[in-house]
Amino acid sequence: MTGPLRLGVNIDHVATVRNARGGALPDPVRAALLAIESGADGITAHLREDRRHIRDADIERLKAEISKPLNFEMAATDEMVAMARRIKPHAACLVPEKREERTTEGGLDIVGGRDHLKPFIDALRGEGVRVSLFVEADRQVLDMAAELNAPVVELHTGSWCEAVAHGHEAAAARELRRLSEGAAYGASLGLEMHAGHGLDFATAETLAAVPDFAEFNIGHFLIGEAIFTGLPAAIWTMRAAMERGRNPAG
Ligand code: PXP
Repeated sequence: MTGPLRLGVNIDHVATVRNARGGALPDPVRAALLAIESGADGITAHLREDRRHIRDADIERLKAEISKPLNFEMAATDEMVAMARRIKPHAACLVPEKREERTTEGGLDIVGGRDHLKPFIDALRGEGVRVSLFVEADRQVLDMAAELNAPVVELHTGSWCEAVAHGHEAAAARELRRLSEGAAYGASLGLEMHAGHGLDFATAETLAAVPDFAEFNIGHFLIGEAIFTGLPAAIWTMRAAMERGRNPAG
């Protein structure tokens, strides 16, 4: 039986636009509240070390003001763990920020970085935060995620979305198979499977057909689409696409 598929909306790029002028508008927390009102199941925000979009005060306000789970994306650093300790998000997704933390495709290098990452994962788990690892769909990597006791893995969909966008059909088919086999393998290890990066209406609909995914996290496309249709319509259309993908018979 296929379970429900949640939509987490990433509001980082509302902050990108705000920061372009150095003022307070547009307010990413207002976008988060509107996204929830429009059907988002959760809000994702990435507090980068360079604070290029989301800032500390945004995270504090998000945690205080939103009624749905906050997925806090963060690098594995003492500073970010301290932030997670203070605000206690529902989930923390560990992502690479530096080249050396990344695999060739772009997910977190949890195989090479195991010893560095383990204390951060343990510390977050100790705070009752649901840890997610943003990784490539690779068996060895998924085995390591299970060994590290991460309850959740988010598969990096960037290579697939790029291949689709450039019309590279063979590569796209190969990447989609990798994601679908990775999701099944991760789920067989007891991991909750999420996906994200670069998804749009069409790719989200296609990927929703993979029954092992429980959540998609989508940002850049939705915020861009909101310029033309408004954020509620962008989210409704995304939800409808995901629903069609998951339950084609309606
Ligand atoms: N998931 C993770 C772990 C991310 O870091 C990001 C942002 O890069 C996303 C999902 C959302 O990606 P996008 O903004 O391309 O939809």
